[in-house]
Amino acid sequence: MLMRYWGRKPSKLINEVMSGISGTVIDPFGGAGSIALVSLNLGNKAIYLDINPYAWLVAFVNIVSIDAKEFKEKSDEVLENLSFVRKRKLRNDYLYYANGKPFWKKRNAERISDFFSKNNFTKLYSILKTIDKIEASPEVKIALYAAFCDSLFKSSKMKRKGAGSWGVPSYWIPREHNEINAIEAFRTSITRFYSYFKTNKGYKLGEDVKLLFRNALTFQYDKDVILFTDPPFFDEVQYTELSFFYWAWLRESEFTDVVERFTGQRLYFNSRDEIIVNPNRGKGYETYLKKLEKFFSKTRRVRSKYLLFHYDNESLKQKVIILAKEKWKDISVNEFELGNQRNIGPKGSKKYILIYSSRE
Ligand SMILES: C[S@@+](CC[C@H](N)C(=O)[O-])C[C@H]1O[C@@H](n2cnc3c(N)ncnc32)[C@H](O)[C@@H]1O
Repeated sequence: MLMRYWGRKPSKLINEVMSGISGTVIDPFGGAGSIALVSLNLGNKAIYLDINPYAWLVAFVNIVSIDAKEFKEKSDEVLENLSFVRKRKLRNDYLYYANGKPFWKKRNAERISDFFSKNNFTKLYSILKTIDKIEASPEVKIALYAAFCDSLFKSSKMKRKGAGSWGVPSYWIPREHNEINAIEAFRTSITRFYSYFKTNKGYKLGEDVKLLFRNALTFQYDKDVILFTDPPFFDEVQYTELSFFYWAWLRESEFTDVVERFTGQRLYFNSRDEIIVNPNRGKGYETYLKKLEKFFSKTRRVRSKYLLFHYDNESLKQKVIILAKEKWKDISVNEFELGNQRNIGPKGSKKYILIYSSRE
């Protein structure tokens, strides 16, 4: 995978479970696209859904075929034509919801702009605006926006010495930060992207894989697809809230226009439909379980269903099993503990269940 996202990616487990599957695999909580990618690599077709526009971008570069040579040429063009933009702050980038409550994972910063030195802010804004002006195929243009996002964490005050990625899923500026020059960060991202596109031929959008910006709870599922998914678990990783770090930048660019012209889909920031526990957004435990219940109900006619569930709490696990049994009827449940996965957040549980149901 080229770009990471929060949450866990038990690719080995997904690979093992999926090895006997053939057909079209749908993952309605697609995230970085790891499930879609594994299923494509095993020769299946894939349908990906997510309501987070940043997740869509991450999945796009992880999965879709992108011309490496063109990407290299256009990224060099960006670096050679950087035009200075006088701008100090991003608009409406405060870490508060519309109801006035702070982001659930807000620690010691007020707005996204606070994460960047004046110098890096200007450089980043210039890169973004230069990408807007570059003429390239839509795939390459989208990949350039993704490379820009890839360089944001490294050039922000969240970056600590020795740590390359956003390990602690919160908005937090450590006392000792060690951000790097934004142009160098972008250059590093470009090099990494180029070598990924060169070695991974990728898949054709529309033919091999569909990347849909859609709500898993309102989608009409075909009964003949194979459902394989890893839904959001509880409150630990606030996907859309954390993605706002990228979205606050992307929405100042032409990114959404490029995507709309290319795919016909208009991406927007949609935290309302997110299934998550977040008391500051009025999303409690009960709402979370109700939405999961709706999901089980929506998908009950799909013949073959696999649901991975990450948990750190026995009672939550039991509740999910009860919901699955109620809606999917015949289920089997396997328990896993993953050895070499990265911990997420302070709880850092490595426990999963795999719920399987088949109506053959
Ligand atoms: C646990 S993550 C999936 C991680 C993914 N398996 C991976 O490897 O990256 C859950 C995803 O569900 C998405 N999500 C939450 N509510 C959703 C909804 N109602 N419809 C579609 N996607 C949703 C979140 O944006 C998040 O990307």
